[in-house]
Amino acid sequence: MARNIVVTSALPYANGPIHIGHLVEYIQTDIWVRFHKAMGDNCLYFCADDTHGTAITIHARDEGISPEQLIARVHSEHKADFAKFFVQFENYHSTHSEENRLFCETIYNRLKQRGSIVTRDVEQSYCRRCNMFLPDRYIRGICPRCKAQNQYGDSCDSCGATYASTELLEPRCSICGETPGRKKTLHYFFRLPDYAGYLRELVNSGHTHKSVAAKLDEWFSAGLKDWDISRDGPYFGFKIPGEEDKYFYVWLDAPIGYMASCKNYCDRQGLEFDRIWNNPDWELYHFIGKDIMYFHALFWPAMLHGSGFRVADKLFVHGFLTVNGEKMSKSKGTFLKAETFAKYVDPEHLRYYYASKLSAGVDDIDLNLQDFIARVNSDLVGKLANIASRSAPMITAGFNGRLGMLDSGGRELLNELTAAKKQIIDDYEQLNYAAMIRKITALADIANRYVEQNQPWSMIKTDPPQAGKVLTATLNAVKVLTVYLKPVLPQYAQRIEKLLNVGPLMFGDIDTVLENHSINVFERLTERIDEKKVIAMLEENKIRQTAAQTQTASAAALDEPLSPECTIDDFAKIDLRVAKVIDAQTVAGANKLLKLELEIGPIKRTVFAGIAKAYQPQQLVGRLVICVANLKPRQMKFGLSEGMVCAAGPGGSEIFLLAVDSGAKPGQRIH
Ligand code: MSP
Ligand code: ZN
Repeated sequence: MARNIVVTSALPYANGPIHIGHLVEYIQTDIWVRFHKAMGDNCLYFCADDTHGTAITIHARDEGISPEQLIARVHSEHKADFAKFFVQFENYHSTHSEENRLFCETIYNRLKQRGSIVTRDVEQSYCRRCNMFLPDRYIRGICPRCKAQNQYGDSCDSCGATYASTELLEPRCSICGETPGRKKTLHYFFRLPDYAGYLRELVNSGHTHKSVAAKLDEWFSAGLKDWDISRDGPYFGFKIPGEEDKYFYVWLDAPIGYMASCKNYCDRQGLEFDRIWNNPDWELYHFIGKDIMYFHALFWPAMLHGSGFRVADKLFVHGFLTVNGEKMSKSKGTFLKAETFAKYVDPEHLRYYYASKLSAGVDDIDLNLQDFIARVNSDLVGKLANIASRSAPMITAGFNGRLGMLDSGGRELLNELTAAKKQIIDDYEQLNYAAMIRKITALADIANRYVEQNQPWSMIKTDPPQAGKVLTATLNAVKVLTVYLKPVLPQYAQRIEKLLNVGPLMFGDIDTVLENHSINVFERLTERIDEKKVIAMLEENKIRQTAAQTQTASAAALDEPLSPECTIDDFAKIDLRVAKVIDAQTVAGANKLLKLELEIGPIKRTVFAGIAKAYQPQQLVGRLVICVANLKPRQMKFGLSEGMVCAAGPGGSEIFLLAVDSGAKPGQRIH
């Protein structure tokens, strides 16, 4: 009987792009959803952007746009990234939505009525210059244990210590550099300990994989604590009912976004939300990464249970992605955005590789790029696609594009392949994708051996009718293997469907055979990965990441405190003029300096500028720049510098001269 299933993946933060680490989860989930669809189940996949919280506000401010503008842009970027990787949702919604606000309020009000919400005063770090409470992540200072500079307010990246932000030495607001103070304010808490009994029972009933259950046991033994669910304004989120300047903490409304996405879909489809979400005839599963287990295995089910909503049947937790055995790294170019990856490598190849590595547990999975290339080229291209690419053209050329009948040898081959169906279905269901891919590759070996043994390319000359039977069996084998692989490789499967001239293949089609059936002309299925492209991808990414990093360094932290205030009047003293570079020379003994001769209308000036690592002298001659024309001349070791050209950047080769419209006149004042 067809099952009714709702599936969710964690909601990605709306403050950054989808990267290949995220894709582990969305590909794992999408394969599972596609598997169920291919089984004929009624399976709905919901997701959304996670849009609230301090990080979004700060990110938007850094870009000079509103949070609403930021989340709208990221929403369309995320959707495009997922589409490139064939991750197909029934609905991709947003936590910044009316549906979500309503569910939040309902859940909160019900929990409050039940006595699960309490309030108490909390003293927190507060930045007087920014007028806001500072989350630990927005306080930087010296680690109290190892004395490493510039560490977060909750933990040290250098020695791994965790501490309270008050223990940090020389703490600073990472937004403005001010030393934070302390301030008392009223917070709302959810009484998680009241749900300990229920949660233990839930875990014992097999809600999660055993490796996750073990982690939860640790948390139970350590004792559950009240959960702080409010944040004071300014905060981008939903106001707490009855409060003026207090908001729900982003992690309260984020998982509720699963329901909001489902509700939004139901409304558009004319379905009733309650008959899907709160109906025992529908199964409900969440997929998440191991870093957000606490929220999904404790807070979330407790909140739902307390407010009378249904709790998921199972929580599937995966591990983290490493690349070449290490954490994704910006400097090695392995911190790859989905978009960048898709520019260089066929997205289906990543789906195939992730599938070949994934299992049900929380172990991390490694994308070893050498192994990735080798596996895709040898197994997917060399074994699987190869069966069709060498057999189909012979049917077209020798048999007018028509399959004939199977003989007993052919049936035997197909029986061997179809016998694996139950095992493969179980592997999909249990998330044992790696085992499933191994099995399918072994079956492809069997099919290839059958072709090798029968040599249809020579048989077609000596015994054409027999060759027709062999090719008919081979293409039926292609069909079976394609059904098995379709959840992983939807586009590849579509190409085979076109080749075999059949409708969308389902698991139910495994036992039917194609006989006396016309097929279409062979077209490209998939291509080998070119190692050069992978190398080029890493190189390009390395360069872009370092550029992007220096641009957004301000968002992460302020390494140097701000200088004393400067007024608009101070600033107005600076006289900026368009200047033409009439000569540029390197300076012997100063490898960072260029000596520039500038023409500012009728005036000539000599300026020593620290831009030699970024510009070649001959590049500059004739170019228009902007000069601080009234700067007091300064005697330098190499001569008198009579001004300054406007350029900025982190240093070294990354210094950029301000550009001037080529129509500007030397001497013209710039405002
Ligand atoms: N916004 C929260 C989730 C809220 S769910 C109600 C969040 N977002 S995230 O963008 O950081 O991560 C989204 C999902 O991707 C999470 O399940 C997370 O575990 C997963 N991954 C993020 N980086 C990952 C890797 N490097 N490797 C594997 N999965 C990763 O958490
Ligand atoms: Zn501040």
